[in-house]
Amino acid sequence: MSYTSLCFSLFFVIFSVVSSRYFSANDNFAVPYQYLKLVLQWQPSVCSVPRVNCPVPPSPNFTIHGLWPSNYSDRYSQPSYCTKEQFNLSQLPRNLQQDMYAYWPDVIRNQSEKFWEHEWAQHGTCSVMTQKYYFNFTVTTTKDQKYNLLSFLEEEGISPNNSRTVDTRLVKAAIEKHIKKHPGLRCVPKKGQGGQYQLNEVVLCFNETKVLIDCVDSYDSNCRGPILFSE
Ligand SMILES: *[C@@H]1O[C@H](CO)[C@@H](O)[C@H](O)[C@H]1NC(C)=O
Ligand SMILES: *[C@@H]1O[C@H](CO)[C@@H](O)[C@H](O)[C@H]1NC(C)=O
Ligand SMILES: *[C@@H]1O[C@H](CO)[C@@H](O)[C@H](O)[C@H]1NC(C)=O
Ligand SMILES: *[C@@H]1O[C@H](CO)[C@@H](O)[C@H](O)[C@H]1NC(C)=O
Ligand SMILES: *[C@@H]1O[C@H](CO)[C@@H](O)[C@H](O)[C@H]1NC(C)=O
Ligand SMILES: *[C@@H]1O[C@H](CO)[C@@H](O)[C@H](O)[C@H]1NC(C)=O
Ligand SMILES: *[C@@H]1O[C@H](CO)[C@@H](O)[C@H](O)[C@H]1NC(C)=O
Repeated sequence: MSYTSLCFSLFFVIFSVVSSRYFSANDNFAVPYQYLKLVLQWQPSVCSVPRVNCPVPPSPNFTIHGLWPSNYSDRYSQPSYCTKEQFNLSQLPRNLQQDMYAYWPDVIRNQSEKFWEHEWAQHGTCSVMTQKYYFNFTVTTTKDQKYNLLSFLEEEGISPNNSRTVDTRLVKAAIEKHIKKHPGLRCVPKKGQGGQYQLNEVVLCFNETKVLIDCVDSYDSNCRGPILFSE
């Protein structure tokens, strides 16, 4: 074998080892997470937890909190701050930016660009997606009528109401009826209501190939028994 062909063969051996490590369809060690959580927040609830005063009145709808690469070991297991890649809004297409203001606003501080920068740094950098893909996937999925959570709850007779609680299981069942998978739920205490919990966020879970999967029920945080779906 000539020197050149030896180099050539060596190159291919190394290339195939490296590429099978990073690109083979069934390897799990190329991504630093096991599944993705799309966390959608109910704005009236976000704005009525103790010590929060939203600068802009909340819209009665679910908007994005974030897309969080996650692991199954426990409910808080999330790889974070994986790379130093800086968030850069100006490199995202204009129509995507507009959608981000509509579907991913910072309701607590009205500083959406900072909110996205934080979500990208903590979670996005672990997603193994480009910024364009990460923000577009999150917004596109949220806009998709097959995940219109508010309409599903209303169709099942669950409407925002500050004077009537609803059982957690009914909330889950209402969403599950439409998406055919278990959603995750996150609840927080409501300001001025003696520790009464309210539905704060709904989580949709996706596997590595972005297919909707069941969320792990036991990870539901603070949602048990009667909860408020705040007006
Ligand atoms: C999460 O799981 C992935 C894939 O199994 C692993 O590489 C990573 O180290 C885990 N990270 C955390 C924070 O548990
Ligand atoms: C963001 O991208 C623009 C346009 O490519 C560039 O001029 C700017 O320096 C970048 N900012 C950061 C923080 O990387
Ligand atoms: C919210 O932020 C937007 C954009 O920065 C600004 O135009 C608006 O005045 C702010 N509203 C409030 C109530 O602070
Ligand atoms: C965003 O994702 C949708 C659905 O996958 C796709 O049709 C669209 O081209 C993407 N847009 C951008 C800017 O990547
Ligand atoms: C609520 O948000 C969804 C997208 O997540 C949107 O399709 C729907 O029109 C919104 N509903 C209302 C009443 O604004
Ligand atoms: C809230 O529930 C109470 C008690 O069932 C009912 O009387 C009231 O009309 C409801 N309010 C709204 C806004 O649906
Ligand atoms: C994601 O789920 C789909 C449907 O269950 C399955 O076909 C696919 O192999 C899954 N992908 C991964 C990486 O687990």
